[in-house]
Amino acid sequence: MNATSLRTAPRVDAPESLSEALETVRAGLHRVAVRLRREGIAVPRLEGKLLRPVVAYAMVPPTLRSSLDDRFWSGALAVQMVHEASLLHDDILDGAPERRGAQTVVAQEGVETALVLGDHYLTGAYRAAAAAEIPEFLLAFIRAVERTVAGEIAQGRSAGARVAPDTYDAIIRGKSGELFGAAAVLGGAFSSLGDLPDRVEIGCRLGALYQRVDDLLDYCPAAKTGKPPLQDYRQGKWTWVLDLMGVEELGLQEVEIIDRLFRAAQGPPSPAERALECLRERRRAIVDTVRSLAPGDTLVEEVLDGWVSAAVDAVRDQVDTGETDASRSRAGRAVDEVRRMAGSLGGPGEWRDYFGRHARTFRFAARLFPAEAASRIAGLYAYCRFTDDLVDEPGDGDDPIVLAERLDAWRQLSRAAFEGEATGIPLLDVVLGDARTNGVSWRYPDALLEGVRMDLDDVRFADWDDLERYTFAVAGAVGGWVTQLFGLSEPELLERAHALGHGMQLTNILRDVGEDLDRGRLYLPTLLLHRHGLNKRDLVRLQVSEGPMPGEYRELIEDVMHRADEHYRKAWPGIHALPAWYGRPVAVAARAYQGIHDEIRRNGHDNLTRRASTSFAAKMSLAASGLLQRRRGG
Ligand code: FPP
Ligand code: MG
Repeated sequence: MNATSLRTAPRVDAPESLSEALETVRAGLHRVAVRLRREGIAVPRLEGKLLRPVVAYAMVPPTLRSSLDDRFWSGALAVQMVHEASLLHDDILDGAPERRGAQTVVAQEGVETALVLGDHYLTGAYRAAAAAEIPEFLLAFIRAVERTVAGEIAQGRSAGARVAPDTYDAIIRGKSGELFGAAAVLGGAFSSLGDLPDRVEIGCRLGALYQRVDDLLDYCPAAKTGKPPLQDYRQGKWTWVLDLMGVEELGLQEVEIIDRLFRAAQGPPSPAERALECLRERRRAIVDTVRSLAPGDTLVEEVLDGWVSAAVDAVRDQVDTGETDASRSRAGRAVDEVRRMAGSLGGPGEWRDYFGRHARTFRFAARLFPAEAASRIAGLYAYCRFTDDLVDEPGDGDDPIVLAERLDAWRQLSRAAFEGEATGIPLLDVVLGDARTNGVSWRYPDALLEGVRMDLDDVRFADWDDLERYTFAVAGAVGGWVTQLFGLSEPELLERAHALGHGMQLTNILRDVGEDLDRGRLYLPTLLLHRHGLNKRDLVRLQVSEGPMPGEYRELIEDVMHRADEHYRKAWPGIHALPAWYGRPVAVAARAYQGIHDEIRRNGHDNLTRRASTSFAAKMSLAASGLLQRRRGG
């Protein structure tokens, strides 16, 4: 098809504005979408900026735009459908929670739904592309889809490491530029706008500029992107902005990255200012090309101006928040605050005392560890306890946002120490440095930090699965951590270490039901309570009522004990397989903890007004039984 096959309806009106163009584009796409849907093809909702169809439209000379027929709109819809498919799949790959300000399909409905819906859009897009009946577009379209996928694969392969500027250019040209290239070929088929390679080139340059803006916005949490800030950075994606910041490798803390973007280390301009200048320069170059090919048409310019303005606004808004200087930002202050708090924890000697003061059951078992191992355990305990206290024992007036910021800061410092950076906080440098050098997976500290964060929200668990995500995070992960710390990494053994954590945490929850309720918390799964005809309010009532615990409550507690016992049973063969110097104290701790169940039973299952505690004699007997059980193999 070419311009001569169209009904020519020349109009010499005032130039069309971008918003008018968007409305025309939406209406045109809608028409062909209705037809495709009737044929049983899934078509995405035509929301948002529809950038690619708008670019296709902008490449059509103004005098011909009013006479575009359904073939053009089919082609434009095909491009939009591929884009939507790629986002659905991209969000699966990225594990992204949000897009366009709403939950992603993968977060809401799972991988299968997002995957198949993406496939559906993608296959439908080929039908729509063929319906355009423009051979040069169809070829450009096919090539664009292939290169989008290739760009994404190249990006995935290079994730986590620095990427040379040329490689970055090639990646974004592929994953984001090529579809704009196909859109430009579609619009260009109706015009004399250069020859085919020119059109592809203009489109690709447009798309790559769009991606550069998108990448810059990732480092400006104040930008309204509808996506979580620093998502790309967290995923290890290297971008042109990091080069401007003079960053050498990924792994800097997030506050530090934002600081770098706005800090003019070698005098002005700052990397943020240079980034804006670079975007403006690229915009100028594209506009010059378009102007030389199609003088007087301003729609492409308007599209580009919108993107550059988004970048300018993001940078301005970020500066306005005052969150651009690590030493003055809220995040920076949170880092200072946790540094001060952690400073009071001192060094290894103090951690041993801290362990001795707090962990009564564990302290009892830990005596059996060789001195060097005991000292490492004490360090790990101090780390876990401190992390927990960050949200559990707030000072007066600490609101949850401040606590979350502190926890974020602690996580960043923990990660830095784990990466071998000296944070100056002995607890981190020693405990996480020790973890890293002994092959402990970051998965464990990460899970622990995540579990503690769960405590910041209103803790409520629906069922066992839900609760056990938590017990893994705060206890199973610690089991895995200690095991790897002592050089043991067999998957089966780690599974058993996790099981011990689950079991002990369930026991811990059972011991503290009353205490937790006093703080408004209930860890027992709601559906389990419901199965016993109980709810949280009933438990609060039981706390103040006289007399023995009713049968349904006892049964509930027995159910939880049973679940914990299953975990202990799974753990025992692992305890048996451990070398004696390690297995013996673990056996004692496991039995001493499990023994708390007997205490709760002795208290008539009253864990609402009484706290079960095992006497020294009981502990000794449990210890002996644990040691025996270990020798017998669990
Ligand atoms: C968004 O980039 C993602 C892309 C531009 C391309 C994604 C391509 C695939 C997942 C390959 C599969 C392709 C098809 C056609 C089904 P980004 O992650 O930088 O942007 P974001 O921050 O918006 O996620
Ligand atoms: Mg993404």
